[in-house]
This record gives sequence, structure tokens and C-alpha cells, in this order.
Amino acid sequence: MRVLEIDHPLVAHKLSVLRNRATHSSVFRQLADELVTLLAYEATRNVAVAPAEIETPVTTMTGTRLTNPKPMVVPILRAGLGMLDGLTRLLPTAEVGFLGMVRNDETLEVTTYANRLPDDLSGRQCFVLDPMLASGNTLIASCQYLHERGARDITCVTLLCAPEGLRNLEAALDPAIDLTVVTAAIDEKLDERGYIVPGLGDAGDRLFGVV
Ligand code: URA
Repeated sequence: MRVLEIDHPLVAHKLSVLRNRATHSSVFRQLADELVTLLAYEATRNVAVAPAEIETPVTTMTGTRLTNPKPMVVPILRAGLGMLDGLTRLLPTAEVGFLGMVRNDETLEVTTYANRLPDDLSGRQCFVLDPMLASGNTLIASCQYLHERGARDITCVTLLCAPEGLRNLEAALDPAIDLTVVTAAIDEKLDERGYIVPGLGDAGDRLFGVV
């Protein structure tokens, strides 16, 4: 498993505004979107491309194009939805699948309540969007799901990670998965309620308001 913690002043600045408890939902959504686009630039560094002949106004040359099958972007409902536009801005031709996962706040166990994905993901590069890698249980379940459908190349894009969650993810997943985690920061720890410390609170609530 590769973990890329993106070291960039704009990432650090936007993340600090997200962490601030006084930041309103509307600003939070806007900054999360911008932050994901910055992370997406690194997350797509190994996206599959092939040479392609093109004609410029002046001559012909060999350029580069994304190959088929197109990448699959999978936001984890609900909070991952707040990351979708930020990623598809750079990958507008990607297909989008959905996984609905909910964690039990007491046991931290995860159950899948919705799924809209192709049955066969062989050969597809998958980009899984979930803002908070806390215990890792949601991403473990999501990556296992994608792996069962044939995905071998999975990049998880997160805003924050806890070290415990990263360790759990690496231990739980089949090493045959080519797994990358791209994040704006690896925080200190998880607290007894499963929140990332110092963190930014409940990402879903902060993006969408408490429902
Ligand atoms: N999910 C969140 O939204 N925040 C945390 O700190 C941990 C899990």
C-alpha cells in the first residue's frame, strides 16, 4: 500500500479552514471541493493512458489519451458525495458508481445499504472517495467489494487519515490489490468515539448540515 500525504501550502491552508469549527457548511463544501481537486491531481498520476495520433493546426504528432475502460469513481455515501465534483473536474469522462455505507457509532462496524456499480470491474482503475479514513472499516469494506468484482487498482482519496485506520486497511486487504491512499493529512489518533484527532468533526454533518 502506498500512502501519499500531499505537502502543498494550498492544501494545508484549505484544510486548516475546514478544521475550524466556525467554518460554515457553505464554505466547507466549497473548500472541500477545491481541496479534492488538488488531491485529484496527485491521485491521477498513474491513470492509464496510451499514445494517440493527433493533428494540430500545424502538423501531426503522437499525443496522449485516457484508455478504455474509463476510470470508475466511487463516492461512499453520504460524505463522499461532497468530493465527487472535485475529482470528476479532472476526470470528466470517468464513470461514477455509488456505495452506501453506514457505520454503527457504538461498534464502528460497517454495513452496506446501497450499491450501484457494474458487476465486472476487471481492468478498471477505481477512485474511492471518502473524506475521513478513521477506523478504516468503511474503506476496507468498500475496497473488498470492488476487489470481489475484479478491481485490482484502487486509489482511495481522503481529506484526513488516522494512523490506526491506515494500519487496519493495510492489514485487512489482499496484498494483490494495487492500493494507494491519497490524503491531505495524517492526523494524530482516533478518540474513544472513533473521531479523528485533531480532525474536523463529522465530515457528513459539516458538508450537508446535521440531518
Ligand atoms: N468520520 C467523520 O466524519 N469524522 C471523524 O472524525 C471520523 C469518522
